Amino acid sequence: MPTLFRKIKEVKNFIRGLRASAGNSFSVGFVPTMGYLHEGHMELIKKSKLQNDLTVVSIYVNPLQFGPEEDYERYPRDLERDLAMCGEAGVDVVFAPTDEEMYPETPKVKIEVEGISNVLEGVFRPGHFSGVALVVLKLFNIIQPDRAYFGEKDFQQLKLIQRLVKDLSYPVEIVPVPTVRDKDGLALSSRNTYLKEYERESALSIYRSFLIAQKLFRAGNTSANTLKEAIKEYISKHPHVRKIDYVEIVDEDFNIKEGEVSEGDRILVAVWIGNTRLIDNWRLSYEEV
Ligand code: PAF
Repeated sequence: MPTLFRKIKEVKNFIRGLRASAGNSFSVGFVPTMGYLHEGHMELIKKSKLQNDLTVVSIYVNPLQFGPEEDYERYPRDLERDLAMCGEAGVDVVFAPTDEEMYPETPKVKIEVEGISNVLEGVFRPGHFSGVALVVLKLFNIIQPDRAYFGEKDFQQLKLIQRLVKDLSYPVEIVPVPTVRDKDGLALSSRNTYLKEYERESALSIYRSFLIAQKLFRAGNTSANTLKEAIKEYISKHPHVRKIDYVEIVDEDFNIKEGEVSEGDRILVAVWIGNTRLIDNWRLSYEEV
């Protein structure tokens, strides 16, 4: 079983102690999570274990990144199950603080990354990325990892963290890990537990629409509009699709593409399936899928 810490000071001292006795080459890998772990998280952990001497996982449902109308209360939580999964995966340390420990006072710091915080997810979830940035930087300060692992599933979040670390010269290497999908193509997410069985087929329309776009792209259709319209048309004809918040394509630097797209650009979507809001993304390439 991993060693569980609830207190900032204790986890800090523990890691500091290990570093002091192990010497300079000792490396710490960090996987920040909100718990309710799934195979996607396990991939992050696997990668961290391969690249580091110590793997630390944080489990904390960060209230600052949820809007007042969002699913903070119903977000799935099961620490016992998460600890067992971490144990099986060979995680060394789990840090699972309480709200009082993380935020004894409501933080007054707001962190924004121009061109990332306030577009796409940032428009539909105002304040979300400020909350993410704050908790991630705070966790980095507590754990002081050499490497930190983020899934490409939350692509905008990954870009935000990469930019924060770059602009602040933060001494951590951000390691992106490809999205893990179920056999049928649904991107793994703790929020998939909200989906009713009869909604799953509609949720799969997201992945299938990416395959359609990829096929069009490979056939020479490079207009952003053509691809976006094909995706919207395909997804919207599914019965439990309540609303498409956005379908957009961005380049490596997170600029939204209007005209022609090229290999490496990413399609980003957010779709409501019943009462569940799903996000997913797809890297355009000339490869066959
Ligand atoms: O991706 C998540 O699970 C969360 O946004 C993170 C990075 C753990 C911050 O709360």
